Amino acid sequence: MKVPFFIEKYIKQFRAMNPKYDIIYTLSQDDPVAFRDSENVKLSFAAIADTHLPNRESAEKNLENAFLDVINGKDRTDALLLAGDIADYGLKNEYERFFRVFNKYKNDLKLFVTMGNHDARFFYKSASRIVNSEIEGLLGIKLHGKPYYSCDVNGYTFIVLCTEKAVLEKAYISKEQIEFLDKELSRATTDGKPCFVMCHQPFAFTHGLPEVWKTGDMGEQNDEVRAVMEKYRNVFFINGHLHGGVCHYVEEILNKENNVVSLSIPGYRKENNFGQVDAGVGYICEVYDNKVIFRARNFLTGRYMTGEYTEFCYEILK
Ligand SMILES: [Fe+2]
Repeated sequence: MKVPFFIEKYIKQFRAMNPKYDIIYTLSQDDPVAFRDSENVKLSFAAIADTHLPNRESAEKNLENAFLDVINGKDRTDALLLAGDIADYGLKNEYERFFRVFNKYKNDLKLFVTMGNHDARFFYKSASRIVNSEIEGLLGIKLHGKPYYSCDVNGYTFIVLCTEKAVLEKAYISKEQIEFLDKELSRATTDGKPCFVMCHQPFAFTHGLPEVWKTGDMGEQNDEVRAVMEKYRNVFFINGHLHGGVCHYVEEILNKENNVVSLSIPGYRKENNFGQVDAGVGYICEVYDNKVIFRARNFLTGRYMTGEYTEFCYEILK
């Protein structure tokens, strides 16, 4: 009998799961967050994805490492992004653990969160109610019942996209949300500054899709959302969802002429499937007047990653 592909996928994920499930990691003090050009950095942020927080103390403590790591850096980090799959099952006690950590540090960093399929798929209404209300508290903004929003930090804009209903593993991005993206990108990029857009799901045919995951793309509105992104210059798209690890699938140039780039952030918890598969790895971004640098960092252990695909540098088009 042929096993359905999603069962095969879950069996593979289960086998690849980090065996050190309940270990509480210790942060090193030897390799603090330090930028390539500390004097001239204009904005910096850490991007992590797929925390899949279960209701376990170890997971809450390990999430806190990301905050302690960036806060105790040699250079100041302005923001932290979590690209979806906040909680493992979308349960109230999982969100309590997650947002307890985020709220503890909300005065130290601007915090951006979006929901992933694990948040949306079982209890969309209750999960989005919790997440939206927490986002409003973290950023001091009003979402008016919508899960998507934008916020400026140091004069740079972050736009956060999010599914508006449960569509199994994909996203539903309404016409209104696409118009919001268009309007915000237009505003954010007028003076030539880079803009950062986050969504849990990546675009189809990027980052190894569909080979790495037959149904792992954004879904029905994929082409429309991507077309809007490609109209503007210096747009950096950040997604989670794929649990790819630090590997050749991390970077995807969406539009070379306009410098539109997509970066697939490895999973903070649970499995990663290719390259360096350590848990707790994300990318830390340094923004300068003329360039944007992304460097892979293990936020659980407090160390920069070395080797292939651990550093990406993009010149800003003027
Ligand atoms: Fe995930």
